[in-house]
Amino acid sequence: MALPPPLPTGFGPARQGEVYMKAMLGGQKPIQPISQAGLEAAAREKITPEAWAYIAGGAGSGATIAANRAALDRWQIVPRMLRDVSVRDLSVSVLGKQRAHPLMLAPIGVQEMVHADADLATAKAAKTVGVPMIISNQASFPMEAIAAELGDTPFWFQLYWGKSDALVASLVRRAEACGAEAIVVTLDTSILGWRTQDLDLGFLPFLKAQGIAQYTSDPVFRGLLGDNADDKHAQSVLFMTTYSNPALTWDKLAYLRDHTKLPVFLKGINHRDDAARAVALGMDGLIVSNHGGRQVDGAIGAIDALEHVALAAAGRVPVLFDSGIRGGADIFKALALGATSVLIGRPYIYGLALNGANGVASVLTDMLAELDLTLGLAGCASVAEVTREMLTRA
Ligand code: FNR
Repeated sequence: MALPPPLPTGFGPARQGEVYMKAMLGGQKPIQPISQAGLEAAAREKITPEAWAYIAGGAGSGATIAANRAALDRWQIVPRMLRDVSVRDLSVSVLGKQRAHPLMLAPIGVQEMVHADADLATAKAAKTVGVPMIISNQASFPMEAIAAELGDTPFWFQLYWGKSDALVASLVRRAEACGAEAIVVTLDTSILGWRTQDLDLGFLPFLKAQGIAQYTSDPVFRGLLGDNADDKHAQSVLFMTTYSNPALTWDKLAYLRDHTKLPVFLKGINHRDDAARAVALGMDGLIVSNHGGRQVDGAIGAIDALEHVALAAAGRVPVLFDSGIRGGADIFKALALGATSVLIGRPYIYGLALNGANGVASVLTDMLAELDLTLGLAGCASVAEVTREMLTRA
Protein backbone atom coordinates (compact mmCIF):
# COMPACT_ATOMS: atom_id res chain seq x y z
CA MET A 1 0.00 0.00 0.00
CA ALA A 2 1.34 3.45 -0.90
CA LEU A 3 2.27 5.61 2.04
CA PRO A 4 0.14 8.71 2.63
CA PRO A 5 1.73 11.95 1.44
CA PRO A 6 3.82 13.72 4.09
CA LEU A 7 2.02 16.10 6.42
CA PRO A 8 2.47 19.80 5.64
CA THR A 9 5.65 20.94 7.29
CA GLY A 10 7.09 24.25 8.37
CA PHE A 11 6.91 27.09 10.85
CA GLY A 12 3.35 28.12 9.89
CA PRO A 13 1.34 24.94 10.42
CA ALA A 14 3.37 24.09 13.54
CA ARG A 15 2.54 27.43 15.15
CA GLN A 16 -1.08 27.39 14.04
CA GLY A 17 -1.42 23.87 15.43
CA GLU A 18 0.07 24.90 18.76
CA VAL A 19 -2.22 27.92 19.14
CA TYR A 20 -5.44 26.16 18.11
CA MET A 21 -4.74 22.92 19.99
CA LYS A 22 -3.80 24.66 23.24
CA ALA A 23 -6.92 26.81 23.08
CA MET A 24 -9.40 24.19 21.87
CA LEU A 25 -8.16 21.21 23.87
CA GLY A 26 -6.53 22.88 26.87
CA GLY A 27 -8.55 26.07 27.22
CA GLN A 28 -5.30 28.03 27.09
CA LYS A 29 -5.34 31.26 25.12
CA PRO A 30 -2.15 32.72 23.55
CA ILE A 31 -0.04 34.59 26.12
CA GLN A 32 -0.49 37.85 24.21
CA PRO A 33 -2.38 39.15 21.19
CA ILE A 34 -1.08 37.77 17.90
CA SER A 35 -2.53 40.57 15.74
CA GLN A 36 -0.19 43.55 15.54
CA ALA A 37 -2.91 46.01 16.53
CA GLY A 38 -3.79 43.92 19.59
CA LEU A 39 -0.13 43.46 20.55
CA GLU A 40 0.54 47.18 20.32
CA ALA A 41 -2.58 48.13 22.29
CA ALA A 42 -1.82 45.61 25.06
CA ALA A 43 1.78 46.84 25.36
CA ARG A 44 0.65 50.45 25.49
CA GLU A 45 -1.65 49.59 28.42
CA LYS A 46 1.20 47.98 30.31
CA ILE A 47 4.07 50.46 29.98
CA THR A 48 4.57 54.03 31.18
CA PRO A 49 3.59 56.98 28.94
CA GLU A 50 7.32 57.81 28.74
CA ALA A 51 8.23 54.33 27.54
CA TRP A 52 5.38 54.36 25.02
CA ALA A 53 6.46 57.75 23.66
CA TYR A 54 10.07 56.62 23.34
CA ILE A 55 9.27 53.31 21.64
CA ALA A 56 6.27 54.05 19.44
CA GLY A 57 7.14 57.67 18.74
CA GLY A 58 8.84 59.08 15.69
CA ALA A 59 10.34 62.25 14.33
CA GLY A 60 8.28 65.42 13.93
CA SER A 61 4.76 64.84 12.67
CA GLY A 62 5.18 61.08 12.42
CA ALA A 63 4.96 61.24 8.62
CA THR A 64 7.86 58.81 8.09
CA ILE A 65 6.28 56.16 10.31
CA ALA A 66 3.11 56.52 8.24
CA ALA A 67 5.11 56.51 5.00
CA ASN A 68 6.80 53.24 5.95
CA ARG A 69 3.43 51.55 6.29
CA ALA A 70 1.82 53.26 3.28
CA ALA A 71 4.75 52.31 1.05
CA LEU A 72 4.56 48.68 2.17
CA ASP A 73 0.82 48.65 1.55
CA ARG A 74 1.27 50.00 -2.00
CA TRP A 75 3.11 46.83 -2.93
CA GLN A 76 0.77 43.88 -3.32
CA ILE A 77 1.44 40.18 -3.62
CA VAL A 78 0.11 38.33 -6.69
CA PRO A 79 -0.43 34.72 -5.52
CA ARG A 80 0.33 31.85 -7.94
CA MET A 81 -1.58 28.56 -7.85
CA LEU A 82 -1.02 24.83 -8.25
CA ARG A 83 2.65 24.75 -7.47
CA ASP A 84 3.91 22.16 -5.01
CA VAL A 85 4.46 24.11 -1.79
CA SER A 86 4.19 21.16 0.62
CA VAL A 87 7.80 21.70 1.71
CA ARG A 88 8.93 25.30 2.11
CA ASP A 89 12.52 26.33 2.49
CA LEU A 90 12.90 29.65 4.30
CA SER A 91 16.69 29.44 4.47
CA VAL A 92 18.94 32.21 3.21
CA SER A 93 22.67 32.73 3.01
CA VAL A 94 24.17 35.89 4.53
CA LEU A 95 27.87 36.47 3.83
CA GLY A 96 28.28 32.78 3.09
CA LYS A 97 26.59 31.72 6.34
CA GLN A 98 23.48 29.59 6.00
CA ARG A 99 20.51 30.72 8.12
CA ALA A 100 17.27 28.81 8.66
CA HIS A 101 15.19 31.90 7.80
CA PRO A 102 15.61 35.56 6.84
CA LEU A 103 14.79 37.14 10.23
CA MET A 104 17.06 39.06 12.56
CA LEU A 105 16.43 41.20 15.64
CA ALA A 106 16.97 44.91 14.96
CA PRO A 107 19.21 46.73 17.42
CA ILE A 108 16.89 48.46 19.89
CA GLY A 109 18.18 50.51 22.78
CA VAL A 110 16.93 51.14 26.31
CA GLN A 111 14.93 47.92 26.59
CA GLU A 112 14.99 48.32 30.39
CA MET A 113 12.21 50.87 29.91
CA VAL A 114 9.78 47.98 29.40
CA HIS A 115 11.37 45.03 31.21
CA ALA A 116 14.07 44.69 33.87
CA ASP A 117 15.74 41.79 32.02
CA ALA A 118 15.81 43.92 28.86
CA ASP A 119 18.36 42.68 26.29
CA LEU A 120 19.06 39.54 28.34
CA ALA A 121 15.43 38.47 27.89
CA THR A 122 15.60 39.33 24.20
CA ALA A 123 18.78 37.26 23.86
CA LYS A 124 17.09 34.34 25.59
CA ALA A 125 14.23 34.50 23.09
CA ALA A 126 16.66 34.84 20.18
CA LYS A 127 18.31 31.64 21.34
CA THR A 128 15.03 29.79 21.87
CA VAL A 129 13.65 30.62 18.43
CA GLY A 130 17.00 30.72 16.62
CA VAL A 131 16.92 34.33 15.43
CA PRO A 132 20.26 36.14 15.15
CA MET A 133 20.41 39.32 17.23
CA ILE A 134 21.98 42.69 16.56
CA ILE A 135 23.09 43.96 19.96
CA SER A 136 22.45 47.69 20.36
CA ASN A 137 25.06 50.25 21.28
CA GLN A 138 22.34 51.59 23.61
CA ALA A 139 21.63 48.28 25.31
CA SER A 140 20.84 48.05 29.01
CA PHE A 141 23.49 45.39 29.64
CA PRO A 142 27.10 45.15 28.49
CA MET A 143 27.51 43.25 25.22
CA GLU A 144 29.55 40.54 26.99
CA ALA A 145 26.57 39.67 29.23
CA ILE A 146 24.18 39.58 26.27
CA ALA A 147 26.62 37.45 24.28
CA ALA A 148 26.83 34.99 27.18
CA GLU A 149 23.03 34.68 27.20
CA LEU A 150 23.01 34.11 23.42
CA GLY A 151 25.44 31.18 23.63
CA ASP A 152 25.85 29.78 20.10
CA THR A 153 23.19 32.03 18.56
CA PRO A 154 24.87 34.32 16.02
CA PHE A 155 24.96 38.02 16.83
CA TRP A 156 26.27 41.27 15.41
CA PHE A 157 27.16 44.46 17.26
CA GLN A 158 25.62 47.79 16.30
CA LEU A 159 27.88 50.80 16.72
CA TYR A 160 27.13 54.48 17.10
CA TRP A 161 30.22 56.35 16.00
CA GLY A 162 30.61 59.09 18.59
CA LYS A 163 33.18 61.80 19.04
CA SER A 164 35.89 59.53 20.52
CA ASP A 165 37.60 57.30 17.96
CA ALA A 166 39.35 55.53 20.85
CA LEU A 167 35.92 54.57 22.23
CA VAL A 168 34.86 53.30 18.79
CA ALA A 169 37.99 51.15 18.63
CA SER A 170 37.36 49.85 22.14
CA LEU A 171 33.71 48.93 21.47
CA VAL A 172 34.66 47.15 18.26
CA ARG A 173 37.50 45.31 20.02
CA ARG A 174 35.08 44.13 22.73
CA ALA A 175 32.53 43.03 20.12
CA GLU A 176 35.15 40.97 18.36
CA ALA A 177 36.37 39.47 21.65
CA CYS A 178 32.92 38.36 22.77
CA GLY A 179 32.07 36.71 19.45
CA ALA A 180 30.18 39.19 17.25
CA GLU A 181 30.09 38.06 13.63
CA ALA A 182 29.78 41.56 12.15
CA ILE A 183 29.70 45.25 13.01
CA VAL A 184 26.70 47.36 12.02
CA VAL A 185 27.41 51.09 11.88
CA THR A 186 24.21 53.09 12.20
CA LEU A 187 24.66 56.23 10.11
CA ASP A 188 21.27 57.91 10.42
CA THR A 189 21.69 59.11 14.01
CA SER A 190 24.56 61.55 13.66
CA ILE A 191 22.22 63.89 15.57
CA LEU A 192 19.17 62.81 17.59
CA GLY A 193 15.93 63.34 15.63
CA TRP A 194 13.26 65.86 16.70
CA ARG A 195 11.12 63.38 18.65
CA THR A 196 7.96 65.27 19.47
CA GLN A 197 6.34 62.72 21.79
CA ASP A 198 9.48 62.62 23.95
CA LEU A 199 9.81 66.40 23.84
CA ASP A 200 6.18 66.81 24.95
CA LEU A 201 6.95 64.72 28.05
CA GLY A 202 10.40 66.27 28.48
CA PHE A 203 11.79 62.76 28.80
CA LEU A 204 15.04 61.24 27.53
CA PRO A 205 16.10 57.90 29.08
CA PHE A 206 19.84 58.49 28.66
CA LEU A 207 19.67 61.36 31.14
CA LYS A 208 18.55 58.79 33.73
CA ALA A 209 21.63 56.76 32.81
CA GLN A 210 19.36 54.22 31.07
CA GLY A 211 20.58 52.54 27.88
CA ILE A 212 24.24 53.42 28.35
CA ALA A 213 25.61 50.12 29.68
CA GLN A 214 27.99 49.65 26.72
CA TYR A 215 29.61 52.94 27.69
CA THR A 216 29.70 52.59 31.47
CA SER A 217 31.29 49.14 31.08
CA ASP A 218 33.92 50.42 28.67
CA PRO A 219 37.49 51.12 29.82
CA VAL A 220 37.94 54.07 27.44
CA PHE A 221 34.66 55.72 28.52
CA ARG A 222 35.48 55.11 32.17
CA GLY A 223 38.95 56.52 31.60
CA LEU A 224 37.39 59.72 30.25
CA LEU A 225 35.33 59.98 33.46
CA GLY A 226 38.37 59.60 35.70
CA ASP A 227 37.34 59.71 39.36
CA ASN A 228 33.66 60.03 38.38
CA ALA A 229 33.47 56.68 36.56
CA ASP A 230 30.61 55.43 38.79
CA ASP A 231 28.72 58.71 39.09
CA LYS A 232 25.45 58.32 37.15
CA HIS A 233 25.05 62.01 36.51
CA ALA A 234 28.59 62.33 35.17
CA GLN A 235 28.05 59.21 33.01
CA SER A 236 24.86 60.67 31.48
CA VAL A 237 26.48 64.03 30.78
CA LEU A 238 29.57 62.52 29.14
CA PHE A 239 27.35 60.23 27.10
CA MET A 240 25.21 63.13 25.89
CA THR A 241 28.23 65.13 24.80
CA THR A 242 30.07 62.29 23.02
CA TYR A 243 27.64 59.65 21.67
CA SER A 244 27.09 61.11 18.21
CA ASN A 245 29.31 62.78 15.68
CA PRO A 246 27.70 64.90 12.96
CA ALA A 247 31.15 65.50 11.45
CA LEU A 248 31.49 61.87 10.35
CA THR A 249 32.27 61.37 6.63
CA TRP A 250 32.88 58.48 4.25
CA ASP A 251 36.67 58.65 4.53
CA LYS A 252 36.44 57.75 8.26
CA LEU A 253 35.25 54.26 7.37
CA ALA A 254 38.88 53.34 6.68
CA TYR A 255 39.51 53.79 10.42
CA LEU A 256 37.02 51.04 11.17
CA ARG A 257 38.64 48.77 8.59
CA ASP A 258 41.96 49.31 10.36
CA HIS A 259 40.44 48.34 13.71
CA THR A 260 38.45 45.22 12.91
CA LYS A 261 38.61 42.16 10.73
CA LEU A 262 34.85 41.67 11.06
CA PRO A 263 32.50 42.36 8.16
CA VAL A 264 31.04 45.88 8.33
CA PHE A 265 27.40 46.71 7.50
CA LEU A 266 26.14 50.28 7.07
CA LYS A 267 22.64 50.86 8.49
CA GLY A 268 20.49 53.73 7.26
CA ILE A 269 21.26 53.63 3.52
CA ASN A 270 18.38 54.96 1.40
CA HIS A 271 19.98 56.37 -1.77
CA ARG A 272 21.49 54.38 -4.61
CA ASP A 273 24.58 56.62 -4.75
CA ASP A 274 25.28 56.02 -1.05
CA ALA A 275 24.85 52.30 -1.69
CA ALA A 276 27.27 52.36 -4.62
CA ARG A 277 29.80 54.37 -2.61
CA ALA A 278 29.62 51.99 0.33
CA VAL A 279 30.23 49.01 -1.94
CA ALA A 280 33.11 50.82 -3.68
CA LEU A 281 34.68 51.46 -0.25
CA GLY A 282 34.61 47.75 0.47
CA MET A 283 31.74 47.65 2.96
CA ASP A 284 30.39 44.13 3.40
CA GLY A 285 26.67 44.82 3.56
CA LEU A 286 23.94 47.46 3.62
CA ILE A 287 20.84 47.91 5.73
CA VAL A 288 18.07 49.95 4.18
CA SER A 289 16.34 51.68 7.09
CA ASN A 290 15.02 55.03 8.23
CA HIS A 291 15.30 54.04 11.88
CA GLY A 292 11.59 53.30 12.02
CA GLY A 293 10.74 56.91 11.17
CA ARG A 294 12.52 58.27 14.25
CA GLN A 295 15.07 60.49 12.55
CA VAL A 296 13.97 62.42 9.43
CA ASP A 297 10.32 63.52 9.41
CA GLY A 298 8.79 63.37 5.93
CA ALA A 299 11.28 60.81 4.60
CA ILE A 300 10.71 58.24 1.87
CA GLY A 301 8.95 55.04 2.98
CA ALA A 302 11.87 52.67 3.53
CA ILE A 303 10.57 49.92 1.25
CA ASP A 304 10.59 52.39 -1.66
CA ALA A 305 14.30 52.91 -1.11
CA LEU A 306 15.01 49.18 -1.01
CA GLU A 307 14.62 48.38 -4.70
CA HIS A 308 17.05 51.16 -5.72
CA VAL A 309 19.62 50.23 -3.12
CA ALA A 310 19.39 46.55 -4.07
CA LEU A 311 19.85 47.45 -7.75
CA ALA A 312 22.90 49.57 -6.92
CA ALA A 313 24.37 46.78 -4.79
CA ALA A 314 23.76 44.41 -7.73
CA GLY A 315 24.27 41.29 -5.63
CA ARG A 316 27.82 42.29 -4.65
CA VAL A 317 26.88 42.62 -0.97
CA PRO A 318 23.81 41.55 1.03
CA VAL A 319 21.11 44.19 1.48
CA LEU A 320 19.05 43.94 4.65
CA PHE A 321 15.87 45.84 5.42
CA ASP A 322 13.86 47.30 8.30
CA SER A 323 11.31 50.02 9.10
CA GLY A 324 7.64 49.17 9.18
CA ILE A 325 7.79 45.36 9.13
CA ARG A 326 4.73 44.11 11.02
CA GLY A 327 4.07 40.65 9.59
CA GLY A 328 4.86 37.88 7.15
CA ALA A 329 3.50 39.70 4.12
CA ASP A 330 5.80 42.67 4.79
CA ILE A 331 8.79 40.34 5.02
CA PHE A 332 7.73 38.66 1.77
CA LYS A 333 7.59 42.05 0.03
CA ALA A 334 11.03 43.04 1.28
CA LEU A 335 12.50 39.76 0.06
CA ALA A 336 10.84 40.25 -3.33
CA LEU A 337 12.37 43.72 -3.63
CA GLY A 338 15.89 42.49 -3.00
CA ALA A 339 16.40 42.09 0.75
CA THR A 340 18.51 39.15 1.88
CA SER A 341 17.17 39.35 5.43
CA VAL A 342 14.76 41.50 7.38
CA LEU A 343 15.13 43.09 10.82
CA ILE A 344 12.21 42.98 13.24
CA GLY A 345 11.94 46.16 15.33
CA ARG A 346 9.17 47.54 17.56
CA PRO A 347 6.96 44.40 17.58
CA TYR A 348 9.45 42.40 19.65
CA ILE A 349 9.70 45.23 22.17
CA TYR A 350 5.94 45.02 22.65
CA GLY A 351 6.33 41.28 23.28
CA LEU A 352 9.13 42.02 25.77
CA ALA A 353 6.92 44.51 27.60
CA LEU A 354 4.07 42.02 27.89
CA ASN A 355 5.83 38.75 28.69
CA GLY A 356 9.60 39.17 28.80
CA ALA A 357 11.59 36.51 26.96
CA ASN A 358 8.42 34.47 26.27
CA GLY A 359 6.78 37.51 24.73
CA VAL A 360 9.70 38.15 22.39
CA ALA A 361 9.83 34.46 21.46
CA SER A 362 6.12 34.55 20.73
CA VAL A 363 6.42 37.55 18.39
CA LEU A 364 9.31 35.94 16.50
CA THR A 365 7.57 32.59 16.20
CA ASP A 366 4.44 34.29 14.89
CA MET A 367 6.43 36.30 12.31
CA LEU A 368 8.08 33.13 11.05
CA ALA A 369 4.76 31.30 10.96
CA GLU A 370 3.08 34.03 8.96
CA LEU A 371 6.02 34.32 6.58
CA ASP A 372 6.01 30.56 5.99
CA LEU A 373 2.27 30.56 5.24
CA THR A 374 2.50 33.65 3.04
CA LEU A 375 5.27 31.99 1.04
CA GLY A 376 3.24 28.83 0.51
CA LEU A 377 -0.05 30.57 -0.19
CA ALA A 378 1.64 32.84 -2.74
CA GLY A 379 2.95 29.72 -4.50
CA CYS A 380 6.61 29.90 -3.46
CA ALA A 381 8.46 26.87 -2.09
CA SER A 382 11.60 28.78 -1.22
CA VAL A 383 12.89 32.29 -0.61
CA ALA A 384 14.64 32.08 -4.00
CA GLU A 385 11.19 31.99 -5.63
CA VAL A 386 10.15 35.24 -3.94
CA THR A 387 11.06 37.52 -6.83
CA ARG A 388 10.03 40.99 -7.97
CA GLU A 389 7.53 39.33 -10.37
CA MET A 390 5.50 38.19 -7.33
CA LEU A 391 4.53 41.83 -6.63
CA THR A 392 2.50 44.54 -8.29
CA ARG A 393 1.98 48.22 -7.41
CA ALA A 394 -1.45 49.12 -6.08
C1 FNR B 1 15.54 51.84 17.58
N1 FNR B 1 16.45 51.70 16.54
C2 FNR B 1 17.80 51.64 16.82
N2 FNR B 1 18.69 51.48 15.82
C3 FNR B 1 20.01 51.37 16.07
O1 FNR B 1 20.80 51.21 15.14
N3 FNR B 1 20.45 51.42 17.36
C4 FNR B 1 19.63 51.60 18.43
O2 FNR B 1 20.05 51.62 19.56
C5 FNR B 1 18.25 51.74 18.15
N4 FNR B 1 17.36 51.96 19.16
C6 FNR B 1 16.01 52.00 18.90
C7 FNR B 1 15.12 52.16 19.96
C8 FNR B 1 13.74 52.12 19.70
C9 FNR B 1 12.80 52.26 20.85
C10 FNR B 1 13.27 51.92 18.39
C11 FNR B 1 11.81 51.81 18.10
C12 FNR B 1 14.16 51.81 17.36
C13 FNR B 1 15.99 51.48 15.16
C14 FNR B 1 15.78 49.99 14.88
O3 FNR B 1 17.00 49.31 14.80
C15 FNR B 1 15.03 49.78 13.55
O4 FNR B 1 15.69 50.47 12.52
C16 FNR B 1 13.56 50.25 13.64
O5 FNR B 1 12.99 49.84 14.86
C17 FNR B 1 12.76 49.70 12.47
O6 FNR B 1 11.48 50.27 12.45
P1 FNR B 1 10.17 49.50 13.03
O7 FNR B 1 10.04 48.21 12.29
O8 FNR B 1 10.41 49.30 14.49
O9 FNR B 1 9.07 50.45 12.76
